[in-house]
Amino acid sequence: MEALDKQAIDILTDNDRGGYTIPTAGLYPYQWNWDSAFAALGFSTFDLPRAWQEIETLLTAQWDNGMVPHIVFHQPDEGYFPGPEVWGGKGPIASSGISQPPLVATFARKIFHRDEALGQEKLKAIYPALVKWHRWYMECRAESGVVASTHPWESGRDNAPDWDEASDAIDISNVGEYQRRDTSHVDASMRPTKLDYDRYLSLLYLGRDCGWDEKVIEQTSPFRVADPSLHFTLLRGHRDLAEIGKLLGEDVSEIDGWISTLEEGCKQIWNSEISAFDSVNLRNGKFAGSLSNASFLCWYAGIESPEMVGHLERILGNGHYIVPSYDPAGEKYDAMRYWRGPVWAIMNALIGWGLEEQGHVTLARAVRQQTAGLISNYGFAEYFNPDNGTPAGGGHFTWTAAVWLSWSL
Ligand code: DGY
Repeated sequence: MEALDKQAIDILTDNDRGGYTIPTAGLYPYQWNWDSAFAALGFSTFDLPRAWQEIETLLTAQWDNGMVPHIVFHQPDEGYFPGPEVWGGKGPIASSGISQPPLVATFARKIFHRDEALGQEKLKAIYPALVKWHRWYMECRAESGVVASTHPWESGRDNAPDWDEASDAIDISNVGEYQRRDTSHVDASMRPTKLDYDRYLSLLYLGRDCGWDEKVIEQTSPFRVADPSLHFTLLRGHRDLAEIGKLLGEDVSEIDGWISTLEEGCKQIWNSEISAFDSVNLRNGKFAGSLSNASFLCWYAGIESPEMVGHLERILGNGHYIVPSYDPAGEKYDAMRYWRGPVWAIMNALIGWGLEEQGHVTLARAVRQQTAGLISNYGFAEYFNPDNGTPAGGGHFTWTAAVWLSWSL
């Protein structure tokens, strides 16, 4: 184990670009939002000031409207597409124009406990930015109590089957020629398809061309999908933000209101046909019919569900590594293709923490042991094949290393 601890520390150190950490060299050469939350957690196990700095650096990219972007382009890099000039971000630092699952409040609270005197000072400094970010989510993404993703990249689950039906409405006739970079770093069979990329770009252009005006995007974008990954991470984030606020002596009634709204909204992402939390296309009210690893974030959000326990036990009983990003019994299951099957250590960490907190001790242990087994047998990969553990995507991966170091936090 000590050798693996050292490898994990080396990965974080290698991927440190001075104040922020890249997910992995080549494939992802900038600062990504939820990757950085994990990086901070990983750093907190051996370098606490550096952990706080990771979060502080991310928040320096916050836009005036409160949005904290999903990519921050600190330094130019030819190896990534679409780069800063394509996005045309409106923030103080070159960035993308969408956000990502808000893990920072939750992880900052975990990091706080490692040194409460330092933690209190750091929390006090970042609290206003976190409230502003969460308020932006409630104002610009929480429609009638359910949190919507405006782009598959915003949910963090780029090519999940959740988006297939909703994406059919995206017009790709304006996209033109472009050169992908991701498939020069990783085999194309593990990445989104050309059609997926055309759609990602079409949505990007729509946002950029209206100057990232949230009202215009809300009114005109064909893509608006209520999403368990954003809904559950924001609900959980609100809970932690409220605790941070109380600790700092702030009035948290606004945050308490957000929590009630999102608790109530969980009903809207419950698909009784598949007895699971699911994504909903808000443009036509259709469920995606997708049991994904985001469906299992319910416990992380403090929401209990015996049916979700049943699904997890079934998948475990069928001999798959848990938790696959899409149900192996589903017709779109693709064991190596990114968010259409593979197991992600980061999602397992969130799911495992939730299970532990809700008292599902046996399942929590299974998730934790399998995650540790995958990493120790197959390395610090971006994701893993649920059928046989094969490592996939990028290697030397920051968030997988961070999960290894920080699970016990
Ligand atoms: C990518 O480039 O694949 C990223 O996931 C976008 O955020």
